[in-house]
Amino acid sequence: MNIDELNAVARAIVAPQKGVLAADESSPTIKKRFDSIKVESTEESRRRYREILFTSEGIERYIGGVILFDETLRQTTRDGKPLAQLLSDRGITPGIKVDKGATPLALFPGDKVTEGLDGLRERLAEYKQLGAKFAKWRAVINIDERTVPSPFGIRANAHALARYAALCQEVGLVPIVEPEVLMDGAHDIDRCEAVTSQLLGAVFNELDAHRVVFDGMLLKPNMVIPGLKCPEQASAPEVAQATLRCLLRYVPAAVPGIVFLSGGQSPADATDNLNAMNAMGRWPWQLSFSYGRALQAPVLAAWQGKEANVHAAQQALRRRSELNGLARDGKYNRSMET
Ligand code: 13P
Repeated sequence: MNIDELNAVARAIVAPQKGVLAADESSPTIKKRFDSIKVESTEESRRRYREILFTSEGIERYIGGVILFDETLRQTTRDGKPLAQLLSDRGITPGIKVDKGATPLALFPGDKVTEGLDGLRERLAEYKQLGAKFAKWRAVINIDERTVPSPFGIRANAHALARYAALCQEVGLVPIVEPEVLMDGAHDIDRCEAVTSQLLGAVFNELDAHRVVFDGMLLKPNMVIPGLKCPEQASAPEVAQATLRCLLRYVPAAVPGIVFLSGGQSPADATDNLNAMNAMGRWPWQLSFSYGRALQAPVLAAWQGKEANVHAAQQALRRRSELNGLARDGKYNRSMET
């Protein structure tokens, strides 16, 4: 493992104004996204959609890295250039989702655990050969009224994240460590903060125990936010304060960047909340984005599967990326949305 190289890759991904486009939807997830615009999900429609995203003019100013799905890393443009190569040529770092999804944790009703460690060392070596420079693994934490997540559910997910991160660094890939507390449910912001705190505490303990070097990784957490069904929603300054309190307590300053997931927030909310954090001061880590839905929702809406709409779809991606680039500097405001 060469720490300086890992650190340089991580820092390039979160360079000024830049963040990550999460385009690593698994086949069932991208099918759901395509269903919403009545586009059939085929190998070719998925390839074409990702090609549209990655050839959008001007996004390289705001997008430092793209997370791909296994299938996409093996696909090419119409003229036969590997999509990962296309990104690299534009100065955008390609990465790969390597987890195999969350399944119910046996004997812990309501808790989930992410699978994919079996054979991971070999898969990582192949992904590296195919051009990936970083990887992503997502742990999913549910909240219910009382017993979920269990302390053991948190431990099991933190352990798996650390096993994954160590394997990445061993082979020379930057791990993006993604512990996600879901927004589903009626819990309030305090409950989200308590669970996120427990989770981040456990994750960094396990990373340390597994000898993962903090300088050579990125963290992809949820923002601290009330559940979608909570009657009391929070303002951007409230979300920003609660999230920062949590991160300052549990995330070592050696971590080069924190790239939030959007998790079901609207595109404007995800941008506004990131903006509020960056407007509040300077922090030990770069505070950036790794959005899937919050970057792609306007693109899918503009595209509708039609070639005639490609330009509009690409403009939508560029605009959303630019707004998030502004949020990196605390220079976004909602009046820019129209
Ligand atoms: P969302 O921003 O849509 O939550 O997706 C980010 C991601 O990569 C989830 O794993």
